[in-house]
Amino acid sequence: MNAFRNILRFHEYRYYVQNDPLISDFEYDTLYKKLEHFEKENPGAITSDSPTQRVGAGLVKDFPKVQHLVPMLSLENSYNADDLKDFDRKARELSGLDSIEYCVEPKFDGASISLIYDNDLFARGATRGDGSVGDEITINTKQIKSVPLSAKFSDYGIQQIEIRGEVLMNKNNFKAYNDKLIEEGIPPLANPRNAAAGSLRIKDTAEVGKRNLEAFLYHVSYLLSNKTQTANNNEPTTHSGMLEMLWNLGFRSPQKEMKVVQGIEGVIKHVEEFEGKRDTLPYEIDGMVVKVNDLQLQERLGMTSHHPRWAIAFKFKARQGTSKLIGIEYQVGRTGAVTPVAKLEPVQVGGVTVSSISIHNEEYIKEKDLMLGDTILIERAGDVIPQIVKSFAELRKGDEQEIVFPVKCPVCQHQLFKTEDEAVWRCTNINCEAQVVERIIHFVSKDAMDIRSFGDANVRKFYDMGLLKDIPGVYTLPFDAIRKLEGFGEKSINNLQAAIEASKTQPLHRIIYGLGIRYVGETTAKTLANAVQHLNDFAHYTEEQLQQLEDVGIKVAKSIHAFFSDPENIKLLQRLEELGIQLKNEHKELVTDGNLSGKTFLFTGTLARLKRSEAEAMAEKNGGKIVSGVSSKLDYLVVGEDAGSKLEKARKIATIKIISEEDFIKMLSS
Ligand code: IVH
Repeated sequence: MNAFRNILRFHEYRYYVQNDPLISDFEYDTLYKKLEHFEKENPGAITSDSPTQRVGAGLVKDFPKVQHLVPMLSLENSYNADDLKDFDRKARELSGLDSIEYCVEPKFDGASISLIYDNDLFARGATRGDGSVGDEITINTKQIKSVPLSAKFSDYGIQQIEIRGEVLMNKNNFKAYNDKLIEEGIPPLANPRNAAAGSLRIKDTAEVGKRNLEAFLYHVSYLLSNKTQTANNNEPTTHSGMLEMLWNLGFRSPQKEMKVVQGIEGVIKHVEEFEGKRDTLPYEIDGMVVKVNDLQLQERLGMTSHHPRWAIAFKFKARQGTSKLIGIEYQVGRTGAVTPVAKLEPVQVGGVTVSSISIHNEEYIKEKDLMLGDTILIERAGDVIPQIVKSFAELRKGDEQEIVFPVKCPVCQHQLFKTEDEAVWRCTNINCEAQVVERIIHFVSKDAMDIRSFGDANVRKFYDMGLLKDIPGVYTLPFDAIRKLEGFGEKSINNLQAAIEASKTQPLHRIIYGLGIRYVGETTAKTLANAVQHLNDFAHYTEEQLQQLEDVGIKVAKSIHAFFSDPENIKLLQRLEELGIQLKNEHKELVTDGNLSGKTFLFTGTLARLKRSEAEAMAEKNGGKIVSGVSSKLDYLVVGEDAGSKLEKARKIATIKIISEEDFIKMLSS
């Protein structure tokens, strides 16, 4: 059975640490279930490091306080080349060396964690806390799949070890997590750091597992050698050697990201170059950490009361800024939700000018203690939309004003309502102009029907002029009247007509998403589309049947059921079908004899000739399958201009063929 467990561990490692799975999720689940079954029959054979032992133990009551084996110190910060030169000069003076070898690695922007392994077994996970005492979060730590439950430290003559690292939520998972919150009417989190820190302290362990956290381990803070082993000189003597050891033992150490550099000049060059690559990484970093590589030299340099003298953080340019809250506007969305938007004095944050920020709902205003006239701290985490971190109540002068939420819809003056289980005030007038317009904008948007030449501005303009009044109206636009408008030449009319025409054959999941059913995001739309032959089939589904579908819970099922029970909506679908919109599930039968049958594809970067959605549809029409990420399951990566991290990742997997758009088009016709 142990051999079997090792197979599972190996596949976890390929998936979570190397990001390069060798088997499908289904195959993994099958193996996992086999092990689970065996252990159920033979409970005496369960080992504490079995892959099944990650499973959450229900609700945790409290996180007990625990002492770290070695205090978790912080790092001194540096912001420019001179700061780094100063640090190097002091280290050289103290050590008497002419030049020092450094190991440079990313400064991960997450929540710090300490892990202890005893006799090769994971024994304890803890948060940083105040540096000396943290919270014991062992069970939650086991939910992080890149943390091995056992590791052969004994091969290195190590009996006990304390390792430091950072727990992160990567950018993709963070975005998906926030999108889900927004869909549920819950304010999103300001940055992945808060998301990671919050996730570690959730009391429902199974929920921690769902957050898809990752742990980067970058520092060995305590080592107890195995006394019974006579020669224990396997222990690494450099920091980079430690990272190598951790990597070899199955940890996600920054072994691939680190660089060993002789002398501070090379370090300066490297950190400056790396800052340029910051946005191409799949996770957030807020700087680099420069560490003296020789562990003996580290010991000689020692530490002050709050930071080691052998390491320094090089902080990248801040993506935070302060501004003044000068007004609030209220926007009505397609579901009637009234969202307050903070108007700010324009401020530069990480190269982008920010002058307005969504502040979600009334509770959020209270939570962040916002008043008109306040000085506020804002943050832009990578490509995430800016968020308010906090207000500075201590800077108030006394003329700040309370923010009073409106009681009537700012567009149609209808009374606003709020249900008990929601934080959002809504305008319940289904014919409220703002909602109608927003529904059309959503329908034509990029991720829905993708009618690119349309755009928000045209929808608003046509609506205001009475040329467009509902979603079916998109397909009956009076082009004679539009032709007479300023700014609509023959070419732009042709483009718009062609785009509208092309949208009629969009795959079913895009139409479902475009209908704007509450709680139905892109993923649920795909699940729904795959479940039926024709969209109208849902008119006969019960809530219970809907709940059988993947990731469809009670709330989502209720919402879908309500949508398809409303005769107005059924009429809308009929009208769309009459106008030529495809409501059948076209991709239900797989093409098995196409040119691309059995091959998987992924498109990245900007394509010159085809739209991404067209290219994907063409691949599928010819039997190809579109996959969502780069892994060994991918056969062809089709690369357009400005391709980023996907291309880099694909280059590391030998079996993936990297081809151009031209090559792809040739494959279709060959
Ligand atoms: S070394 C004794 N390495 O940054 C020195 N810290 O601002 C231990 N951090 O408290 C820290 N990435 O939570 C180190 N590659 C890295 C890091 C890193 C992120 C965090 C860590 C530390 C904080 C200091």
